Amino acid sequence: MAILVKLCTHWSAKRFLWLATIIFVLVTLCWYMTNPLTAETGQRKIDCSQASSISEAVNRMEADDMETEQTGSYVPLFQSRIVHLDLKGAPPKPAYFSEIFPLLAKLGATGILIEYEDMFPYTGLSLNNTSAHNAYSTTTISQINQLAKDNHLEIIPLIQTFGHLEYLLKLPEHLHLREVPDQPQAICPTQNETLPLLFQMLQQVAKLHPESKRIHIGADEVYFIGRCNACQERMNNKIWSTSDLFIDHVSAVAKFVNEKLGMRPMMWDDEFRSFSEPQLVQSGIGSLVDIVVWNYKPTLELDHEIWTKYLNVFDNIWAASAFKGATGSNQQITSVRYHVENHRAWLRLIDEYKDTAYISKFKGIMLTGWSRYDHFAVLCELLPAAFPSLAVDLLLLQYGDNHLHFIDQEAVKYLGCSGSFVFQMSQETYYPSCNFPGWEVLSVIQNYGQVMEQYAKVLNDSVVRGWLTDYNLAKQFSSPTHLSGIGTELSYLQNSFDSLKRESETSFEAVYDSNTAKEWFETHVKPMADRINELLMAIETLRTKNTWPRRPL
Ligand SMILES: *[C@@H]1O[C@H](CO)[C@@H](O)[C@H](O)[C@H]1NC(C)=O
Ligand SMILES: *[C@@H]1O[C@H](CO)[C@@H](O)[C@H](O)[C@H]1NC(C)=O
Ligand SMILES: *[C@@H]1O[C@H](CO)[C@@H](O)[C@H](O)[C@H]1NC(C)=O
Ligand SMILES: *[C@@H]1O[C@H](CO)[C@@H](O)[C@H](O)[C@H]1NC(C)=O
Ligand SMILES: [Zn+2]
Repeated sequence: MAILVKLCTHWSAKRFLWLATIIFVLVTLCWYMTNPLTAETGQRKIDCSQASSISEAVNRMEADDMETEQTGSYVPLFQSRIVHLDLKGAPPKPAYFSEIFPLLAKLGATGILIEYEDMFPYTGLSLNNTSAHNAYSTTTISQINQLAKDNHLEIIPLIQTFGHLEYLLKLPEHLHLREVPDQPQAICPTQNETLPLLFQMLQQVAKLHPESKRIHIGADEVYFIGRCNACQERMNNKIWSTSDLFIDHVSAVAKFVNEKLGMRPMMWDDEFRSFSEPQLVQSGIGSLVDIVVWNYKPTLELDHEIWTKYLNVFDNIWAASAFKGATGSNQQITSVRYHVENHRAWLRLIDEYKDTAYISKFKGIMLTGWSRYDHFAVLCELLPAAFPSLAVDLLLLQYGDNHLHFIDQEAVKYLGCSGSFVFQMSQETYYPSCNFPGWEVLSVIQNYGQVMEQYAKVLNDSVVRGWLTDYNLAKQFSSPTHLSGIGTELSYLQNSFDSLKRESETSFEAVYDSNTAKEWFETHVKPMADRINELLMAIETLRTKNTWPRRPL
């Protein structure tokens, strides 16, 4: 009060008023900038300290989120929202499905796309070695069907029928069916045995899914087409290009699915991207299969002409987004924000057609979650580790693009998490804890991320780079002064790796059989743990030296 009185006596009233106004405006501005209206409650919290650390992406999301429209009035653009279960890596224990199917349904999923790969129990002489040793049993598949039904989830099996048949073509008994003898990637469409074998597989899968109405025949990334003599001869006789050969094969498979199995075939779009519109129209493929257009980027890199071509050619169009397994062949930690942006981009694209006749062509979206880049690749992100990403993406599809705060809070609620995954300040250092099925696995992956950061830091340490190189070891020549300090750090890291091993063994058990824990550890942890052990042993040897030779060494 004394200060005020002093101010008033020294300053004119007008000046004081000005100063007060400026302070008021500044405080108000600060408040608004850092605390926009949240869609759910409309409440604001005051905290100006973090204003500068909010990234551009969050700013953009929050700006978009200002809209106060009621979430209940939103009609989802995609009526079907299908979650991809890629069983070619880290197949969950059947019991895990009983935990996640109800949760997926609550989050807005309407179906499951099961890519069995070698986890299907194929039978018959020519297929009896095609299944993995830990493939699901027919009983398990019936249980999966029942669980899906209980939760109103449609099951769509996915069976590759052209490329990505590594699990089939790697075997000696199918070697002669490869398009290129030393490449087990694509099957030859011209060999007499090919179609009967594929039909047998499709038939076996369909038989174990009596209630499924659709089947996905894959057909993406066919890296080898029309290379073998039989194909060349056929193409010459019919004056065909490789694209004619491609269409002929997928049409034969699609017709079988449609006419013999009574199911609707769907396939990936990528091989069609380079086809001309007249060729596609002439082939009749547009009404034979549902096309599934995949794009996993935050800014959809979809060529406008390709998109227009699909709209003109195909009766039914599906989108395919990604919630994991699309950002690196050995990626372990899922960026929620990256995949959220991919889904938002899809929503924006389809929204452009909301008031056109095309809108009736869009049947749904498949949220892909890749477990490996192909049969031979290492495991990428594990399903439980990507669950927050999947949850936010599903809710986004259900409630639309204008309520990110609400969606984030819903995801946090459904997954029992201690904090946000979307609006976290720093992806690298912020790890909320949760309570959803498989949370233990995400927890291990979070620890893994921290240990790997520590590992990179220690290996890049000046002492390691200057006194612990292969040259130092080969010549047994290093400074004991420097070695003792780094030894402590390396031992600490060794302990971290040991506990990571124990944690992964116990935590993975809730979701996987022992094969997955073993593979994950051997691929993503063991090489680094071994390197640390090597360095510790090297230090031990180096420190037995007490005198050193004259240079040159
Ligand atoms: C399956 O593998 C077994 C053992 O390796 C082999 O004897 C058998 O011939 C294989 N089956 C076929 C159909 O080739
Ligand atoms: C598959 O059939 C072959 C030939 O009958 C047999 O030798 C082999 O053991 C069978 N493999 C499996 C996995 O059942
Ligand atoms: C397929 O079978 C037909 C009739 O048996 C035969 O003439 C043809 O050479 C076979 N083609 C291939 C590629 O094996
Ligand atoms: C390694 O350390 C150097 C020097 O401290 C630093 O400039 C560099 O960015 C580090 N590299 C990595 C990969 O951390
Ligand atoms: Zn061929």
